[in-house]
Amino acid sequence: MSKSAKSAAVYAGTFDPITNGHLDIIRRARSVFSTVYVAVAGSSSKKVWFSAEERVAMVNEAVSEASLSESVVVQAFDGLLVDYVKKVEADVIVRGLRAVSDYEYEAQMAHINRQLASEIETVFLVTSEDCSFISSSIVKNVAINGGDVSRFVPGIVESRLKKEVEKSK
Ligand code: COA
Repeated sequence: MSKSAKSAAVYAGTFDPITNGHLDIIRRARSVFSTVYVAVAGSSSKKVWFSAEERVAMVNEAVSEASLSESVVVQAFDGLLVDYVKKVEADVIVRGLRAVSDYEYEAQMAHINRQLASEIETVFLVTSEDCSFISSSIVKNVAINGGDVSRFVPGIVESRLKKEVEKSK
């Protein structure tokens, strides 16, 4: 690839569920990279509310609802992130930074990924201020306690969360 050509990037996460904060990073990544692969971690050490298939479907719908589908590919992945990056022939891992507190963990991940595959760069994008406090767990916590999550998640996710909360009653 020539130095002037835009690279393809992978933005990975559990996305349980996707939030407006994640969409903000996808939007920013799209303006920098030729293709953005949104990689949904199939297996997670986290106790997830939604299956990998449901999370991929929600990300796809949210991306389309936000008119971001062009040059965005959503897929589930298992195993090492660097192996997925190689498989799709991307060059970069994109990570979102919300606050200084994210840095330590993010630096650790970037170093581990560099040890595993030195040719893959990690690039950090800073989230917009109004998304800096959002996490998937906080959104689920608000939803399960009957709060309004409409400002934090795309419409499709809001209705899926409502259904999930109803089921658990
Ligand atoms: N906006 C909103 N929320 C954000 C955010 C943003 N811009 N950036 C991060 N978050 C939230 C996430 O929703 C998540 O919330 P939660 O903990 O409540 O679920 C939290 O911040 C942590 O996000 P992240 O660090 O991206 O973790 P993750 O679980 O979503 O994804 C993987 C981690 C999947 C990318 C990582 O574990 C991985 O690469 N796994 C593959 C195995 C591997 O390669 N291991 C070696 C390298 S670590």
